[in-house]
Amino acid sequence: MARAPKSGQMTASDWSALRYEIIETFTPGTPINESDLFTGRAQTLRDLQDTVAEKGRHAIIFGDRGVGKTSVANIFHKPLHTETKPICAIRVNGDSSTDFDNLWRRVFRRIKTTTDDQTWWMDEAHPNKITPDDVVIALGNFQTFQVPIIILDEFDKIIDPACRTLVAETIKALSDDAVNCTVIIVGVATSVSELIREHASIPRALKQVPMLPMEKGEIEDLITRRIRRLRMSLSSGALWRIGFFSAGLPFYAHSLGKHAALKAVAEETRQVEEGHVLEAMRACMEDVDYSVRESYARATLKSYRQGNIYPQVLAAAALTERDAIGQFGAADCAAPLSAIMRAPYKTTAFSWHLKEMAEPGRGSVLNKFEHKKTYRFSFRDPFMQPYIIMQSLADGYLTDQILKTFSVQFQRTLSI
Ligand SMILES: Nc1ncnc2c1ncn2[C@@H]1O[C@H](COP(=O)(O)OP(=O)(O)O)[C@@H](O)[C@H]1O
Ligand SMILES: [Mg+2]
Repeated sequence: MARAPKSGQMTASDWSALRYEIIETFTPGTPINESDLFTGRAQTLRDLQDTVAEKGRHAIIFGDRGVGKTSVANIFHKPLHTETKPICAIRVNGDSSTDFDNLWRRVFRRIKTTTDDQTWWMDEAHPNKITPDDVVIALGNFQTFQVPIIILDEFDKIIDPACRTLVAETIKALSDDAVNCTVIIVGVATSVSELIREHASIPRALKQVPMLPMEKGEIEDLITRRIRRLRMSLSSGALWRIGFFSAGLPFYAHSLGKHAALKAVAEETRQVEEGHVLEAMRACMEDVDYSVRESYARATLKSYRQGNIYPQVLAAAALTERDAIGQFGAADCAAPLSAIMRAPYKTTAFSWHLKEMAEPGRGSVLNKFEHKKTYRFSFRDPFMQPYIIMQSLADGYLTDQILKTFSVQFQRTLSI
């Protein structure tokens, strides 16, 4: 790697080239497609690679939106590719209009078949509606030295229940016939049965691959690798901040890393400091989906009722220690809320605020569960909690002091 010129020796065009490189290197909106840029998830990658090696096995990758499912599906097979055993990976996305026929037609449109002197796309050989049996026969046509992998991404978006059932039947048939092809289903879900109800009939055929948020060390590695690649450096405070704000979601790490590095470059320095990360918060919040910003605005809307402390209650909720399934009780908010309000707050003074924020009128930012005559809550969208922390800091509801006091507990929650 070329030695980086000292900051003082950089010309204006060096700085703009570096800006461009930063924008290319951090990809908050795009799944990873290059092994070099992919961080962590070693066990998940191994599990998926083993699935490909085992005849008759397929896999289902499930987890929250934005945890990195598509990136894993794009990357895991790359190290398996050799000249003698080439990988043929095809990824298609489901959507609300997908049925079994057009799902597999999308796959077949990407498979070229050659016989004698003729070449055609596989969908051309299926003028009629595609059935599970057609899929089993077509996928059985790959040469034995090839390693075909079919990735059905965004499976949760498929509304048609018949399509999901037929995909389960197809996997069973592919497995029974030990067809040389691996199918990977990918979708947003907290359990496999949300994506495929019939999974119980094919437990051995379908490897379950849950995707949790990334670990703190993985997020830090994601950032440091990119900063090093840019021949820049990062203070330990800046790294802590990005790791903390990201809450295991690589989207936030990319967005904060990008904007903080751009802030540093704007000051003509290659060293990213904690202050740059704090300055980057606003731009990062603008990168977040509109739906998250809108729900936050609704949840915290001013009302003329007494005690409009919605933003503070939400900030307190974002600082709570959560249980293994990401839930918290109203009582858990009492300590952070008292710190935020600088006065002791009893649970009864704000528990109805939490309940209201689980209603559409307040953006449904929370899920509400009844548990032994009390309520437990969780954030409906995993992107919400880091957003609340940043927004509350920016608006002054949260101070850095409070954040640091509760961050120890909070980090523990993340490493569950
Ligand atoms: N292992 C990883 N290393 C680095 N960046 C990642 C990794 N996994 C995901 N990302 C980044 O996180 C964001 C969300 O990833 P994506 O694969 O699209 O998630 P999902 O499919 O679960 O919604 C993207 O910006 C992507 O670049
Ligand atoms: Mg995805």
